[in-house]
Amino acid sequence: MLTNRRTFLRNATLATTALSASRVMGANEKIRVASIGLGGQGQGNAGRMAAVPGVEIAMLCDPDTNALDAAKGKHPGATTVQDLRKVIEAKDIDAVVVSTGNHWHVLAALWACQAGKDVYVEKPISHNIWEGRKLVEAARKYNRIVQGGTQQRSCPVQDEIKAFLDSGKLGKIKWVRCNHYSIRQSIGKRAAPLAPPTTCDYNLWLGPAQDIPILREKFHYDWHWNWNTGNGELGNWGPHILDDLRNVVFRDKIPLPKRVMAGGGRLGLGDAGETPNTHFVYFDTGEVPVIMDVHNLPRGKEVKANDFYRRRRTNAFLVIECENGYYAGGRGGGKAYDLNGKEVAKFSGDGGRSHAANFINAMRSRKTSDLKAEIEQIHYSSAWCHLGNISYRLGQNSDIDQARSRMKDLEQWQEVCGDFSAHMEANQIALQPGDFRLGPLLEIDAAKETFVGETATPEALALLRREYRKGFEVPDTV
Ligand SMILES: NC(=O)c1ccc[n+]([C@@H]2O[C@H](COP(=O)([O-])OP(=O)(O)OC[C@H]3O[C@@H](n4cnc5c(N)ncnc54)[C@H](O)[C@@H]3O)[C@@H](O)[C@H]2O)c1
Repeated sequence: MLTNRRTFLRNATLATTALSASRVMGANEKIRVASIGLGGQGQGNAGRMAAVPGVEIAMLCDPDTNALDAAKGKHPGATTVQDLRKVIEAKDIDAVVVSTGNHWHVLAALWACQAGKDVYVEKPISHNIWEGRKLVEAARKYNRIVQGGTQQRSCPVQDEIKAFLDSGKLGKIKWVRCNHYSIRQSIGKRAAPLAPPTTCDYNLWLGPAQDIPILREKFHYDWHWNWNTGNGELGNWGPHILDDLRNVVFRDKIPLPKRVMAGGGRLGLGDAGETPNTHFVYFDTGEVPVIMDVHNLPRGKEVKANDFYRRRRTNAFLVIECENGYYAGGRGGGKAYDLNGKEVAKFSGDGGRSHAANFINAMRSRKTSDLKAEIEQIHYSSAWCHLGNISYRLGQNSDIDQARSRMKDLEQWQEVCGDFSAHMEANQIALQPGDFRLGPLLEIDAAKETFVGETATPEALALLRREYRKGFEVPDTV
């Protein structure tokens, strides 16, 4: 039986704070890391951490013993545990890597901070905006090194792109389009709830999420497409792409947008997923307009290939439209073109190979400024996604003409509405009432991380946070 959580945390905090206070890591001293969450990304993260000189994967944690067994094969010296509270309790663990489902990110990371451990936490760093801020508060209060998992921030190409934009060759930035198009199939719809795998301790897997029936076919990974555990495709790819936007275009000077409006639907699937598979968002940044467009249907019913951004025939993540041309690129780099479409510059990166090493270096220097993806910035980038999801979730049954008329004068909004209609036509989807939702234009108070004005309804405000399952609450005071 585990100790009562509060007593446990208090003890753990006292014990390990004392430990870390007395522990100044030498440049060559071994750093003992625990890898929490060992699905696809967690296994990868454990391998990438283990490859950093001076790092030992000392503990592996996953409520599913299948995942533990697979990871143990690669890190035979590590202790395995199903309950992450055992990791938090372990005094000889210096840092944790959190690669669980999104619903666990903040609580796992926050407990680790309270226990005096440093944290590498996957994107989106939070499941909702409120808890993301709590993690930032915990990082500050306990003086922790906390890195977000947007690894491309460690790629040198981002600075090269910034320098190119600053050179003025493309002129001023006019607007930005952020895209992600990839095909995803139906996740099924069961009549009877799915039984979790017998190898998995479901209580631990659920943690802060609600215990509600799972009607999809697959237990792992597809949690992304139910709000209880995931944040949809916008919360999956958005944290990368919007993080690039916030970094490369806005230089981390715009924490949150001023206004956000979303439209879309879960279309052409008829499955148990709740998050939209077709989702477009307008971000009023106070500077140039930004549109994000995400979808998971193919280019067309008969063309089973990923879609592309029509205007530019590219599926680049980030299209930065400038006076004299544009830049289009993804995590690995990109290209710049002039107004005639002629390539004028090319950038190639390494996808952020050194992100784990960057984290470990910052652990040794104890300087948050050494981190490429310091938690506060990645909290903001994650929050942009949450805002786009909130507008969608508040959305009413609508149609694309109503969407168009909401922002008649915004050329980029008209463009994405046109792209949506063309995409529906290409996939031969005739929208039925209730299929397409249009959300409110939410007004945001960036300093307070809340909504203001007419759209600050109780429903909107409620979506800034969640109901936590008993025993797994993110605390108000960290
Ligand atoms: N940075 C990137 O490029 C990148 C790429 C892929 C995924 N991710 C992120 O990594 C996370 C994991 O994604 P995935 O694809 O591996 O998902 P997944 O479903 O395959 O794996 C999640 C694992 O976490 C485990 N888990 C659940 N609760 C846990 C707990 N309390 N303690 C320990 N483990 C727990 C699950 O049992 C599962 O094995 C997601 O948040 C995702 O957004 C990031």
